[in-house]
Amino acid sequence: MENKKKEGRYSRIYKQLEELLPKTEDSLARMATICAVLHHKMDYYFWTGFYIYKSGKLIVGPYQGPVACQELEKDKGVCWAALNNNAPVVVPDVHAFPDHISCDSRSKSEITLPVYNHKREIEAVFDVDSDHVGSFGEVDRLALSEIMELIYKKS
Ligand code: SME
Repeated sequence: MENKKKEGRYSRIYKQLEELLPKTEDSLARMATICAVLHHKMDYYFWTGFYIYKSGKLIVGPYQGPVACQELEKDKGVCWAALNNNAPVVVPDVHAFPDHISCDSRSKSEITLPVYNHKREIEAVFDVDSDHVGSFGEVDRLALSEIMELIYKKS
């Protein structure tokens, strides 16, 4: 999708989420709502979801799309890279990412972002896969980082 079109969509989605999310402060409910809205509005999203960081593990949380891996092997793949680097990771071609974890062979490109609580501790990793190469870039990284800030925002 063209960058201008992406920016317009992300901006409308952000406004919609700003209205929807304050109805609860429950982070899992907010994550579920974010997945549902993004997955159905962004047509290049093939899998959209969260891996929750608990007891030193990344365990699948709310998601939309095909069935995914329930637990990700520690320190391997794109989600662990976001967590360990404490920064978003954009992978234009998953086959070029050495230890990418493939939950579905149709996934071709991916973006992952850490999700922070009020204390700036990582609570989860947000992950989006596309079935096309090169779907994600700076526009996605910026817009999704802003959306992730809504999860732990006080109502
Ligand atoms: N590809 C991810 C695993 C999760 S799935 O894409 C849903 C990774 O390498 O961490």
